[in-house]
Amino acid sequence: MSSLTLSPAWNALKKHHSDASQWKLRELFTEDSARADRYQAEACGLHLDYSKNLIQDQTLGLLRSLMAQAGVEAARDAMFRGDKINFTEKRAVLHTALRYQGSDPILADGEDVMPKVRAVLEKMRVFCDRVRSGAWKGHTGKPIRHVVNIGIGGSDLGPVMITEALRPYANDASGERRIVVYFVSNVDGTHLAEILREVELDQTLFLVASKTFTTQETMTNAHSARKALLQAMGGDASAVAKHFAALSTNIPAVKAFGIDPDNAFEFWDWVGGRYSCWSAIGLPIALFIGFENFHAFLRGAYAMDTHFREAPSEKNLPMILASLGVWYTDFFGAETHGIFPYDQYLHRLAAYLQQADMESNGKFMTRSGERVDYPTGPIIWGEPGTNGQHSFYQLIHQGTRLISSDFIAPMQSQNPMGDHHRILMANCFAQTEALMVGKTLAEAEAELRQQGLPEAEIKSLAPYKVFEGSRPTNTIVMSKLTPETLGALVALYEHKIFVQGVIWDVNSYDQMGVELGKQLAKALLGEMEAGEKDASIPLKHDASTNALLQYYWKNRK
Ligand code: F6P
Repeated sequence: MSSLTLSPAWNALKKHHSDASQWKLRELFTEDSARADRYQAEACGLHLDYSKNLIQDQTLGLLRSLMAQAGVEAARDAMFRGDKINFTEKRAVLHTALRYQGSDPILADGEDVMPKVRAVLEKMRVFCDRVRSGAWKGHTGKPIRHVVNIGIGGSDLGPVMITEALRPYANDASGERRIVVYFVSNVDGTHLAEILREVELDQTLFLVASKTFTTQETMTNAHSARKALLQAMGGDASAVAKHFAALSTNIPAVKAFGIDPDNAFEFWDWVGGRYSCWSAIGLPIALFIGFENFHAFLRGAYAMDTHFREAPSEKNLPMILASLGVWYTDFFGAETHGIFPYDQYLHRLAAYLQQADMESNGKFMTRSGERVDYPTGPIIWGEPGTNGQHSFYQLIHQGTRLISSDFIAPMQSQNPMGDHHRILMANCFAQTEALMVGKTLAEAEAELRQQGLPEAEIKSLAPYKVFEGSRPTNTIVMSKLTPETLGALVALYEHKIFVQGVIWDVNSYDQMGVELGKQLAKALLGEMEAGEKDASIPLKHDASTNALLQYYWKNRK
């Protein structure tokens, strides 16, 4: 047994769960009408209502004991201090330095990182102003109108999600949107080809975004984009300096690619890929919404950092969300957690959080080198409301699995239009209410009786109309989705993931689980090429993989 499952706090929660598993949320609300007031917290423009969870005061006390026992506060301070908490890669975890607004030094390996963080931000500001004002000219003398970010994973998902979320901030003072951003991530040539069809290359800036500058997909796409640019520019290699910039920790590789070092925006190995939207990786965001708005996004995150460091655990948003997640994952056996933003602008939030959460906490080895004997990171998924209601909500309401979820909604629409926003919010609140209260058999029967159905039919139909309820939800609301509130929201989830990683005793900052597939793909690539030339090469794999290779060779043309 692991030290976690043997611990007093864990065992107290286990015992408490045998009671909690019998609770009905609607009864908890009837018995204790003050729970909505008690189980809410607010910070950085975000209001969290967590009263529709299967909790009572004792539950929260026990979850706080679990966090105390796991040493969450000490671990948090170690992260902010720049300790090498990513011990497998021997790295500090300091994405918080990228948005730090104070004046203290932040040390990594004994060096204050803040001067270089600020220098890169200043370089980004100047570059953004030049590109957005039209002062930056392409090879043929035309200003830039299209920005194509080439990156994958953390070098794509954050910028995609954030530029989508902050579209209303992309217009300049005259209401014009000068810069259009595109994102190429997939190595499937279709992704790049379709975007190349949309842009005018002499007005396009390619951003090659890669922490390592070795990622197969990104480098393949970057080389093809450069080829397309050179073709359009009559083969003049000097065009690259006007149309390519790089966002990376690997400046030698950027130079080797042929990108002018003046167009290289650096970040550092203490920034994890999935935590890098605050770094130079945020350049497409800054180009799209302007540097001032990007800076407001950083300030929102900094406000959440301060809240996370200073708020007591009972008011601490990341700690509340994290401990509730552990409650469902480890004690109720929930396997997934839904993310349902009631805001079309947040339509990529779930995809972003999939990497943030699942690449961080999808781990089975503890920090002390044992295999865990408890579930760790859940499957994260979701779609914006109200679309999800017409697709998968059926399973959440009446399926056999317990699914916890976050409903996220701004109270103000960026596009007021008739009744739309009221309808959207009514649906959001109705869903969490329905998931919580459910509908009993007696209620279902009464409804059918009112419709005048014969008694026999009522008896046979009513069971299908029962909602068990007690499906737990968090509701995170804000007055408006702004750069600041989005920054706070993203940092909230980052810290939630951190706290869960500490409780589960995993290293949330490496991603070794992505390596095996990459290694095998590299080996297969060589074999596939060889087999295209010589059909008689010996097959070295398992029978299934060998058969797929043969199918590929036979059908590839
Ligand atoms: O394959 C996973 C991963 O390493 C992610 O962690 C990372 O965000 C992504 O690939 C892209 O890496 P890079 O920015 O180095 O190209």
